[in-house]
Amino acid sequence: MPSEPLFWQRFDICGRDFVDAGKASITIKGILREIGIDSSLIRRAAIASYEAEMNVVLYASRGTMDLRVTPKDIRVTVEDEGPGIPDIELAMQEGYSTASDEIREMGFGAGMGLSNIKKNADVFNLHSVVGKGTTLEITFRL
Ligand SMILES: Nc1ncnc2c1ncn2[C@@H]1O[C@H](COP(=O)(O)OP(=O)(O)O)[C@@H](O)[C@H]1O
Ligand SMILES: [Mg+2]
Repeated sequence: MPSEPLFWQRFDICGRDFVDAGKASITIKGILREIGIDSSLIRRAAIASYEAEMNVVLYASRGTMDLRVTPKDIRVTVEDEGPGIPDIELAMQEGYSTASDEIREMGFGAGMGLSNIKKNADVFNLHSVVGKGTTLEITFRL
């Protein structure tokens, strides 16, 4: 029996929008704090959400980030329209990044985002179709 969501909210993420970049994950952090989630879990969810949000800003055209909280878990689903990831295994490697010089000058492109998301999440699912987009689903058990 699927558990009833206690909370659900969708955030829009706009590619290349460095003004609003990170706002969705900051909002998610606040929501989890208000719900009363344990602070170490909030920290993990916030780090993972931020990295996922930034990947949409940096690499995709647009996307959505859904936060869903049930009595059992917190699930964050990020779906984008963009170039997709041709080789997920390679993209997952620490230090691998296709970030441009311009992006690196802004302080991004260390190539640690996806591996950090995986480390912080209890369940990590990454799926991508080249030329269409990428879907990332991460779950944190409560
Ligand atoms: N949503 C995405 N759409 C397209 N490519 C992505 C996306 N997320 C990650 N990538 C690719 O995976 C690489 C590694 O991502 P990540 O580990 O977050 O490191 P970084 O963002 O520092 O490059 C990126 O450089 C990019 O090529
Ligand atoms: Mg990244």
